[in-house]
Amino acid sequence: MIRRVWREALKHKAKRYPPAEVDPTIAGHSNSGGDGRKEIIRFEKVSKIYRMGDVEVPALREVDLVVYRGEFIVILGPSGSGKTTLLNLLGGMDTVTSGRLVVNGWDISQLSVQELTEYRRTQIGFVFQFFNLIPTLTALENVELALELVDGGGREKAMRALEAVGLAHRADHFPSQLSGGEQQRVAIARAICKDPPILLCDEPTGELDYETGKRILALMQDINEKQGQTIILVTHNSAISDISHRTVYLHSGRLAKVVRTEKRKRAEELEW
Ligand SMILES: Nc1ncnc2c1ncn2[C@@H]1O[C@H](COP(=O)(O)OP(=O)(O)OP(=O)(O)O)[C@@H](O)[C@H]1O
Ligand SMILES: [Mg+2]
Repeated sequence: MIRRVWREALKHKAKRYPPAEVDPTIAGHSNSGGDGRKEIIRFEKVSKIYRMGDVEVPALREVDLVVYRGEFIVILGPSGSGKTTLLNLLGGMDTVTSGRLVVNGWDISQLSVQELTEYRRTQIGFVFQFFNLIPTLTALENVELALELVDGGGREKAMRALEAVGLAHRADHFPSQLSGGEQQRVAIARAICKDPPILLCDEPTGELDYETGKRILALMQDINEKQGQTIILVTHNSAISDISHRTVYLHSGRLAKVVRTEKRKRAEELEW
């Protein structure tokens, strides 16, 4: 069954892979490998309208956006402006009403439910505001679960991910025995353990105090720079845009503007 889904997905891939585009303006940054940037996400006039009985709620309206591999994108906008909707579409947790959304060669505006499952498993890591750890599993087991493997390889990979977030020594602790910042680090380990090309983060520091929040952002910046993962981070905190390559501003479901960060900061330098 999985194999068939893969075959179908690969067909989609072959058929729908967009021409790789290079953005020369980001070619100089540290992940570029010197050969410019390749696009990884393309929104083409993407709209999402929720229907509640007779009422239509337009959550996103004709959004056009291209994100390049290895970019750190921050999404800002008032409550209800469509930030979570945009992440949910990217995460394959919801489908577009109209327009086209292509992610790493997968035209996710065309995928079946099964293909979307495969897409989520292989392409996306999620970090949420409320960590979403399973309380009855240890840190290590929470990460292992995401790998959906029963052999020893799963455990090793999970342990490596915990090491990457500096929590190997807490592997056997349950979430209730961890601080908020540590729980979020387990959640990040869970998101990165499968090495997905894209990390989606919805208010990942929303529940954390100032110093812990900055440490989590530093970890994200590190993952982006060392592993080259593309990060899309939603927040209400405009100070965080200083660690991004570009910030996308949403307003009433529309993309109001995209601003390139002229002088990027280290997460440790942020102040709010
Ligand atoms: N499942 C849904 N059904 C109906 N309407 C929805 C649904 N999800 C979101 N909406 C509506 O779509 C709009 C955008 O919501 P969204 O959650 O994307 O906003 P947001 O920018 O993430 O807000 P916040 O900053 O408060 O998290 C809102 O008007 C919201 O009420
Ligand atoms: Mg939201």
